[in-house]
Amino acid sequence: MFSTRNFNRSKPILFILILFPSLLWAYQFVTGDLGVNPIEKLMDELGLMALKLIIITLMITTLSNIKPLKSIVVLRRMIGLFAFYYVCLHFSTYIVLDHFLDMQFIIQDIIKRPFITFGFISFLFLIPLASTSTNNMIKRLGFKLWKKIHYLIYPVAILASMHFYVLVRADKTEPVIYMGIIILLLFHRIFKRLTRPQLAQSRGSFPYRQD
Ligand code: HEM
Repeated sequence: MFSTRNFNRSKPILFILILFPSLLWAYQFVTGDLGVNPIEKLMDELGLMALKLIIITLMITTLSNIKPLKSIVVLRRMIGLFAFYYVCLHFSTYIVLDHFLDMQFIIQDIIKRPFITFGFISFLFLIPLASTSTNNMIKRLGFKLWKKIHYLIYPVAILASMHFYVLVRADKTEPVIYMGIIILLLFHRIFKRLTRPQLAQSRGSFPYRQD
């Protein structure tokens, strides 16, 4: 049931399911169906989707340590790249629709408002992850260096959840839940490295070997 073949087969459906919300929100934005503050709503939906996908990407790494679920790792690259896609849309909405490409204001905003600073650093850290995601890049960099670069997913996730935590004023439950999940996944990774360093280093966790 959880074979590599089945996970690979599920990819096209997963692709459509993850892409669909962005198309729906774009449509609702154009038709004026995103409520009284459509830009804010669009930005929130895109940001939240990006954060959820980052967390799912981390979860896949952890789940792939469970033997029957080992093959789930074949879904990681696609979901990780979708997280980047949603972050890019989120950031573009902020730059283009919210601030009309006023770069001077945007730079000031990134420096002055801590939650924007966290989001921006998180976005910057995601760029090397996305740009080294191809099999060709893994070969060129070597697996060890590639893996080191991809540990950036943890600071990305922590900064993104802090970005969310700081910006929410009233009920902080949702960002706290996301932060909790990220910290648990990080602890699991550290624990695994400390207890089974040779396994953590091995090619057993090579990300796309079954692609
Ligand atoms: C990995 C990168 C990022 C992630 C995962 C992320 C995620 C989020 C999340 C979850 C929200 C709150 C959604 C809600 O309230 O329901 C949000 C809001 C926001 N984000 Fe980001 N974000 C990222 C990067 C950025 C960047 C680079 C900027 C701009 C420089 C930015 C600007 C904003 C703004 C202005 C809001 C508030 C929107 C509003 O309610 O007015 N984010 N983001």
